[in-house]
Amino acid sequence: MKFKVALIWAVAGSAAVFLGWRMLRPLEIFSISKRFENPLPATPIPPLGKLGARSCGSCHVANYREWSTTIHSRAWTDPYFQTDWRAEGRKPVCLECHTPLAAQQRYRVLGYHGGNRWDPVLAVNPAFEPALRRQGVTCAACHIRHGVVYGPFAKLDAPHPVARWNNDNETCIRCHVVNNRHHDVFYRLPPCGTVTEIARTRRRFRLKGRAIQALLPALASRSSVGTQSHRAGRQAQRTFPATGNDGYGVAMSARALAALNCVQCHMPSVNRPLVPGGKIRPSRRHLWRGGHDPRMVRDALSISFARLAAAPSGRERYALTITNTGAEHYVPTGVPDRHLTVQLRVLGSRGHALKSRIFTLERSVLWRPFIIELHDTRLRPLEPRTYDIGFSTRSHPRPTAVEAVVRYWLMDTSHRNHDHYRAPISYVVFRRRILIEPGKRSGGT
Ligand code: HEC
Ligand code: HEC
Ligand code: HEC
Ligand code: HEC
Ligand code: HEC
Repeated sequence: MKFKVALIWAVAGSAAVFLGWRMLRPLEIFSISKRFENPLPATPIPPLGKLGARSCGSCHVANYREWSTTIHSRAWTDPYFQTDWRAEGRKPVCLECHTPLAAQQRYRVLGYHGGNRWDPVLAVNPAFEPALRRQGVTCAACHIRHGVVYGPFAKLDAPHPVARWNNDNETCIRCHVVNNRHHDVFYRLPPCGTVTEIARTRRRFRLKGRAIQALLPALASRSSVGTQSHRAGRQAQRTFPATGNDGYGVAMSARALAALNCVQCHMPSVNRPLVPGGKIRPSRRHLWRGGHDPRMVRDALSISFARLAAAPSGRERYALTITNTGAEHYVPTGVPDRHLTVQLRVLGSRGHALKSRIFTLERSVLWRPFIIELHDTRLRPLEPRTYDIGFSTRSHPRPTAVEAVVRYWLMDTSHRNHDHYRAPISYVVFRRRILIEPGKRSGGT
């Protein structure tokens, strides 16, 4: 009997210690793949002088101006990144995407303690340039490999060596594909699931035998002047050294890459010269809009809010229907913090809420003691979602209006408070109020 009790205590004690350790140990949200375990070794190209964006921008004026307005140019200074990075203990691996060039990093990685890639052995980097670090995802991160400027064209006459990449989308893969297949991790999609979400959309629609271009108007209109389509088939000749995995589009076939369409949606096409006074060419604006841009998010969504036919029971119902018609991945995509809320309210004569319902469209993950994805209610492409609110026509006090508000969130309030983040974290993407006139059918405002 005594032995049994001791055994139970021992098992319970070990379980408590194990769970306690799981609650406290550093969280490994993603695994560090070969693709981004090292910084990019880009060095200045002799005829051009400095590596920074301003040096490229002295000739490529439009590209520079556009890039400066994007979150890529602020991937280091972004206050949300800074806050989160500090909260996560300033892990060096975060820099491989947020400040990806070797010269943007204060420390060099010499190796890893006990082979653990989250725990590097660091040494001061003599080539570190603080001004370059402030540029975040700078031109060279996407364009320079081994002293050559890669781009979409073949054989241009430029003052720097040029080469053509296989496909425009391969530039995005290094940083926008992140996985975690560790045995004790239970995600349904990779932690940054954008590419997998697109693959799932494809699979869903291939079953129905329809082409995605025809289904997503955004894609059809944006890829029309596309610079990629007429080059997609041919392969550029290029060899990267076997050591270090700093090539483009690693481990994905050119065909699979071409089908991703990241560039087609995120870099609007334009016909213009590459340098002032140069030949006009089919080019793409360097804009990369996403969750930080209310217009981009609004463009991704089709939303309607209307009164439904009255039920015989004397109940009025109003419904909001929201569909992702603009993105081939889910909306929101990217970091799991992003979510949408749909708030429906029945309002009284003083504008106060008589009744309120709130729905959250999110990816919900239990982080501790294990990473387990609980549910995912984000908007899959072309899958309408309807939310409704109702009231009795006999209710007191009398409702005077019904309102719907759709809001986009970069992160939730608890995360904001936890990290002491100060900047705004949400904005309205849709708001409509329908007045209820006594005794009459209601109309929109
Ligand atoms: C002294 C002016 C100058 C500077 C500085 C310069 N470029 Fe260029 N670049 C050109 C010219 C000229 C072309 C060819 C334009 C044409 O033929 O239409 C070109 C072409 C390109 C292309 C197209 C290559 C292809 O094959 O598709 C890219 C991409 C590019 N440059 C990126 C950069 C980047 C990145 C930098 C900074 C590291 C940079 N350039 C610095 C003048 C410059
Ligand atoms: C060197 C790494 C890197 C590469 C390469 C890269 N990105 Fe990014 N991208 C980032 C980082 C880091 C952020 C987030 C920065 C932040 O919010 O602090 C980001 C953000 C974005 C956003 C979100 C904008 C927003 O408002 O939230 C879009 C869209 C985007 N990238 C598209 C692309 C596309 C398309 C490509 C390929 C042409 C690409 N990226 C290549 C690192 C990269
Ligand atoms: C996130 C990756 C990324 C960054 C950062 C980036 N580019 Fe590009 N760039 C691309 C892609 C992708 C294309 C191909 C677009 C196309 O198909 O025409 C491109 C094309 C170009 C071209 C050729 C024609 C065109 O479409 O305009 C030039 C020139 C160029 N970039 C210059 C720059 C300069 C200068 C910077 C920095 C100020 C920069 N790029 C930053 C991804 C990037
Ligand atoms: C059919 C058009 C389309 C395609 C294809 C597409 N996107 Fe998007 N993407 C959008 C729209 C619209 C938004 C804005 C809505 C949102 O934030 O979810 C967006 C948002 C984003 C964001 C912002 C997420 C955030 O956290 O703010 C990222 C990152 C992104 N896309 C990356 C990519 C990458 C990488 C690819 C290719 C693998 C890609 N997109 C392909 C249309 C597209
Ligand atoms: C493999 C590349 C990669 C690595 C490594 C990486 N990030 Fe990012 N990060 C991105 C990209 C791409 C985005 C934007 C697109 C998205 O929403 O997925 C982003 C977005 C973010 C954002 C949201 C920024 C905003 O303005 O909304 C934060 C915060 C962030 N990363 C913090 C970190 C931290 C902390 C680490 C290290 C633990 C890290 N990242 C490591 C690529 C990376």
